[in-house]
Amino acid sequence: MKIDVYFTPLGAKEGEFAGRGVVVIDVLRATSTIVTAIASGARAVVPTATSEEAVRLTANLERDGIVLAGERRFVKIEGFAFGNSPREMTPETVGGKTVFLATTNGTPALVATQGAEPVLVGAAVNFTALAEAARALFNERGDLVIVCAGHDRQFALEDAYTAGRLIRAVKARLRKIELNDAGEVALELASRYAGWKDAFEHSRAARQLAELGLADDVAFCARPDRFTVVPGYAERRIT
Ligand code: MLT
Repeated sequence: MKIDVYFTPLGAKEGEFAGRGVVVIDVLRATSTIVTAIASGARAVVPTATSEEAVRLTANLERDGIVLAGERRFVKIEGFAFGNSPREMTPETVGGKTVFLATTNGTPALVATQGAEPVLVGAAVNFTALAEAARALFNERGDLVIVCAGHDRQFALEDAYTAGRLIRAVKARLRKIELNDAGEVALELASRYAGWKDAFEHSRAARQLAELGLADDVAFCARPDRFTVVPGYAERRIT
């Protein structure tokens, strides 16, 4: 029984996730935004590796059914309808629509899991439901991969903390499980902070978002279990 954590997807070799069950975490903010969009009734979210790709994929699509969203340096991309704020993903804005989402780290991390099956989208906002789905997957396969998006291609505390909380939730007491080194550290982090709010207070991304006037997004992402959906990514669509 083993769980491997990646603090960013950059260290993964080609094909490393093939056939394995993966959870992707970008708690500030891409996976929180995706979970919120799906919970708000979006038909699907299509994560793209770049904003150019999002524009290209939507060029010939009927405008009514699609929404372009994304950020660069946390700020909405010019010409896109929305940024990467979960608070923008309401039933009124995304209900029944397909959201094409381009973010700096989160959506490329999802794209990097190609070949994995299933790929679950995780955040604090759907944590209990996510933990249940991940536990069932781990018990069935004896194997789980947790991919953190990271921040600016580096380790991100908030993602690693969430990965640690997930390991703790999935791991049955007394059962011997093998963790890679990143998994060991993530598990330690899970006991270091009192919850997401506390972990975010020590995170660089949370500080940067607050400096840009997006502290309400940080607070939104810190509240666990707003939703019970666990979106899955397959064939380039999250549903
Ligand atoms: C990312 O993908 O790097 C993040 O979700 C950035 C953000 O909070 O907008």
